[in-house]
Amino acid sequence: MIPEATLSCIGCGNKIEHDRVVYSCPRCGDLLEVKLENLSSVDASLLKERWRSRPIGVWRYRELIPLRGERYITLHEGGTPLYRCGKLARWAGVKELYVKFEGANPTGSFKDRGMCVGITKALESGRQAVICASTGNTSSSMSAYAAAAGMKSIVLIPRGRIALGKLFQTLLYGARTIAVKGSFDDALNMVMQLRDSKDLYILNSINPWRIEGQKTLAYELYDQLGMGDYVVSVPVGNCGNISAIWKGFSELIELGLLNGSPTMLGVQAEGASPFADMILKGHETLKPLEEPRTIATAIRIGKPANWKKALRAVRDSGGTVAKVSDWEIVEAQRALASLEGIGVEPASAASLAGVKKLVEEGRLDRDSTVVCISTGTALKDPNEELLRGIEFSEVEPNVDSAKPLIEEILKP
Ligand code: F0G
Repeated sequence: MIPEATLSCIGCGNKIEHDRVVYSCPRCGDLLEVKLENLSSVDASLLKERWRSRPIGVWRYRELIPLRGERYITLHEGGTPLYRCGKLARWAGVKELYVKFEGANPTGSFKDRGMCVGITKALESGRQAVICASTGNTSSSMSAYAAAAGMKSIVLIPRGRIALGKLFQTLLYGARTIAVKGSFDDALNMVMQLRDSKDLYILNSINPWRIEGQKTLAYELYDQLGMGDYVVSVPVGNCGNISAIWKGFSELIELGLLNGSPTMLGVQAEGASPFADMILKGHETLKPLEEPRTIATAIRIGKPANWKKALRAVRDSGGTVAKVSDWEIVEAQRALASLEGIGVEPASAASLAGVKKLVEEGRLDRDSTVVCISTGTALKDPNEELLRGIEFSEVEPNVDSAKPLIEEILKP
């Protein structure tokens, strides 16, 4: 029932024992992925039966997450709601639109899916501490899971460039936090230079085990929506999540479970769009951006580490990319909240903004069914800039001074 697994290089195909702590191919230096072998010979109906007997969430799908299975670290991640959003569908101009709300995860973002698996693997490795570079969500998540696992955690963040809520979470859960006077890309570069330490376990998304947890989002969509002919819109930063979701779909296709063919849409902010630019210009390699800029701090990334995997996700699924302005992101954030009651942080709103933009540009069929991945909750980033133009009134503490305002609001 449990397929054999290896660590496999996406460049040269080199196979490595999956228990080794290694973050890139020792032969050619390319990215590694966890490869489930012979998936097509797995009894998929038996697998489905087992899944049905468990609550929805990351660990429902444990047969396809090849850990040793002695101990799982969990805060009950995954199993996030999928909302059907008629008003947003009209707003964006498509037939049907769903929002997968990853903000409902324990630390408020999709990172928890990958982190529960990553921390479990870190414990298996016997290392004493976990480390990551982060724009704030990975660090919040890693800090929480390290606490749950009883491990030390060390976080490198770009100084002054992460949202307050995320900094608060990271510190509260207990990570030793180091503010780097530079960008996320600088911080990740520093972490990667520590790759040979025998004490540290790196939990950025270049770690293929993170991707193993995050791929369960695709499995959940299969369970929640049943069919597969939809466009899945994903905000893209370091290119991990879009790669993970496509990996999940690819495995379902290989298992013979998914009938339709999902299409991946990767959305970046205009000021931080090296991946989208590469695809739109038809280039084969990514040109890093030195000074990425966007209000969506989570995806303010100039050198996405997983771009090769993400390129494969977009190409193999017949998908595409979109670039959206900061204002389009803010508009989408407000639409999600005020039309449907879904509060997301700016980066998360990029997926919806990208759908609207593609429809307007005539690059997305109005007849499409779309799933927007909303990656993190609004509470992460309580930011005055994001409230610009939204007013509220102050009154004296008696009802007579509030009444005229209320009457005004109630006017037809
Ligand atoms: N949305 C949110 C809310 C994020 O925090 C991130 C990444 C992304 C989207 C993009 O995902 O990197 O896999 O392409 N945040 C990372 C962090 C970089 O450190 O928290 P990606």
